[in-house]
Amino acid sequence: MSYNDDPNRKKKRQKAKFQPPKFEPTIPQKTPLIEDVVSCGKKFIDKITTSIQGTTVFSAMGVKPNKSFVLEGRPGTGKTFSLWGINNDYNRDIRRKLDGQGVCNQDNKDSDDSITVRMKEFGLFLFEYNVGQHGTAYINRGAKIIHSFFANGFLHAKIAPTILMFDEADAILMSRKDSKNHHGEDDKNLETVMKNLQWAKDIEDLYVVFLTNYPEALDDAMLRSGRIDEVIHFEAPDFSARRDLFQSSIDMLNKKAGYKVVKKYDLDELAKKSKGLVNSDIDEAVKRAVRKRAAQIVGERDKRIIPAGYVTQKRIVEQIKEIKEEESLDKYIL
Ligand SMILES: Nc1ncnc2c1ncn2[C@@H]1O[C@H](COP(=O)(O)OP(=O)(O)OP(=O)(O)O)[C@@H](O)[C@H]1O
Ligand SMILES: [Mg+2]
Repeated sequence: MSYNDDPNRKKKRQKAKFQPPKFEPTIPQKTPLIEDVVSCGKKFIDKITTSIQGTTVFSAMGVKPNKSFVLEGRPGTGKTFSLWGINNDYNRDIRRKLDGQGVCNQDNKDSDDSITVRMKEFGLFLFEYNVGQHGTAYINRGAKIIHSFFANGFLHAKIAPTILMFDEADAILMSRKDSKNHHGEDDKNLETVMKNLQWAKDIEDLYVVFLTNYPEALDDAMLRSGRIDEVIHFEAPDFSARRDLFQSSIDMLNKKAGYKVVKKYDLDELAKKSKGLVNSDIDEAVKRAVRKRAAQIVGERDKRIIPAGYVTQKRIVEQIKEIKEEESLDKYIL
């Protein structure tokens, strides 16, 4: 039978055609830097940077540093943020270069950050696997994409420290016990991750980080000792963490604006009033306060020569109250 007579030829051709996507490293931004990350995120950064910087010491002593991490906790507690902090910090020079070239200018629509940066200029590579973006319902393709994600990491780790980040990891590491939601393809994905994770252990400068809001949904085999080196719990911030978070959000905003937009504030008072809020709420309260003030300035009749305003404690407290009210409303609706 010739190829053309083969009734399965369309299927075969489709199969042969499938190429996993090309993974690009995350392009660094100005913020956050490592110094901007506080609370649980800082704890994780300390651990992973010890591994990255101490590779030679660890291997001289006959062990490997911690290379695989699970970051678990409520939404908005700073898991993704901490990884961006590491990436931005190790790639400050790239950001500077990109800003210098003006490629970040919104008017320059044809430019693409990734084109102008050479691989060897990276101080660290962060690759992000996202189920929404990379997951697929096609048979066998999900596992192939995951495999190629790891293979890409193996190659880049030869150039610079490389972090493979799996966001919403519960979606690909789903427990096999949960037969109701479990599918044959999920098994393949899980096995592919586990196999590659084993290989990743032997690759110097390669780190794998899984992020999840549902640690209880992960398969037991993933969490058995030796597979994941460390599970880090991201908890809702306590008084002192909230204090640090306000300081960090205000500092980042002032840095971006280039002057002290937020001034005259009392961190103790802000931390006391924001009990129950998480990292993202705190950042949102500060940003909303500034946004409101900016809108007010726009609406004012006497246009100023320098349209820059200030925000003080009172406005941030108002926003804290507003966010708290919204959250209690959410609970009511649920
Ligand atoms: N340590 C921190 N310091 C300052 N701001 C923070 C910190 N952590 C988080 N934030 C603020 O909270 C926002 C949300 O954090 P992030 O997206 O990292 O949460 P997450 O834990 O990844 O949530 P999810 O589980 O929903 O993905 C950040 O964009 C940032 O504005
Ligand atoms: Mg996240």
